[in-house]
Amino acid sequence: SDCLSVNEAGHLTIGSADTVELARTYGTPLYVFDEGTIRDTLRQYKGSIDRYYGGKGLVAYASKAFACKEIYRIVESEGCGIDVVSRGELYTALSVGFPVEKIFYHGNNKTVEELTYAIEHNVGRIVVDNLTELERISAIAISQNKVVPILLRIKPGIDAHTHNFVRTGQIDSKFGFALETGEALDAVRYALTHPGVALKGIHCHIGSQIFEIDPFECAAEVMIGFMAAVRDETGLILTELNLGGGFGIKYVPENDPVPYQDYMEKVSGMVHTTCRKYGLETPFIAIEPGRSVVGSAGITLYTVGGVKVIPNIRTYVSVDGGMTDNPRYILYQSQYEAVLANRAADPKDSVITLAGRCCESGDLVGEGMPIQSPKVDDIIAVLATGAYNYSMASNYNRVPRPAAVMVRDGQAREIIRRESMEDLVRNDL
Ligand code: LLP
Repeated sequence: SDCLSVNEAGHLTIGSADTVELARTYGTPLYVFDEGTIRDTLRQYKGSIDRYYGGKGLVAYASKAFACKEIYRIVESEGCGIDVVSRGELYTALSVGFPVEKIFYHGNNKTVEELTYAIEHNVGRIVVDNLTELERISAIAISQNKVVPILLRIKPGIDAHTHNFVRTGQIDSKFGFALETGEALDAVRYALTHPGVALKGIHCHIGSQIFEIDPFECAAEVMIGFMAAVRDETGLILTELNLGGGFGIKYVPENDPVPYQDYMEKVSGMVHTTCRKYGLETPFIAIEPGRSVVGSAGITLYTVGGVKVIPNIRTYVSVDGGMTDNPRYILYQSQYEAVLANRAADPKDSVITLAGRCCESGDLVGEGMPIQSPKVDDIIAVLATGAYNYSMASNYNRVPRPAAVMVRDGQAREIIRRESMEDLVRNDL
């Protein structure tokens, strides 16, 4: 990505900071983020809400991609909102004073305890997944003398994960209310009978790492069509539409994501046209990008501990991290690009299997990765690890979670401390 370069020493840099220096200072494995990239991306999204919706909307960073105090501070200072999916994310955001009115609370099984906590703190919008939850929210709200603003999560029946996206009937998803079966309209009617909730609008999220614009346009059209149906059937005017996240990023050179501006322009065109068609005012629009905000802004640095050549088959290069800090290869066979940080200008003359350190054969960061021939003690950078890496990390094999640093104009600061041995036994009795 744009934040990466190579300096005179032949070292990879991120945000003008030398990654070999960073590895020396903070140790490895190490997550490194470029603050400029994160802020730029948020500004671009926010700029397009201003341009295409006259500012009537909100960029809510999907914090499941990477959640910690500092990222919430950065998002807040850019005037954006967030999407949270647990009491833990909500707690972290509130601990740095994140403005509650800009928080969307998601999840298909929020506990009564979590809902009570969210309602006590006046979370901006709870996105309701099912009728049990609707009943619970209303009851808690009444007990706290409140009326809780909600959105309903709708399944628009779009499968964006096929080569050419398809509109299925009712998709098989654990999230939300289906349109075709009438479930969604019934949920609207049901919400209207519950005095503890105020139904403001609807939400959908059609998938993640999507490269095409069409499925997003299609979702917008379907959702606005439903808003018109709600008006016609119940008289209720819904004023908010949250279109979720899912915009793809470039992990390897073959990936070809659409520029965000193009998504925003095309989708807003569809929103305005469809609203006009049904005689609706354009609703307040929210979007929830996660991966595209932090993914390309982050890298992971590892130290090579060993090189094992299996003649005529492959070369294993073992590093001091792996599935514990990046489980995405073992989970999804995700592709990543690797660079030898201390000889980044050299040609990539070998192809390796990057192996993690866990006692598990499948613990790989990638296979068939082109890279400058690594030797013991070299530093390897795996690129575009900013999203769904730290947030999905584990302590498998009692491996401590790495530290994370944020770089700004060549200066690094630690934003998450490396876990200690003490941390690992903290809850053991
Ligand atoms: N909004 C909702 C309701 C979501 O469920 C998600 C992602 C997002 C927004 C953000 O989507 P994004 O812009 O990041 O694509 N662990 C998987 C990704 C799971 C995404 C789940 N929901 C991975 O590592 O690829």
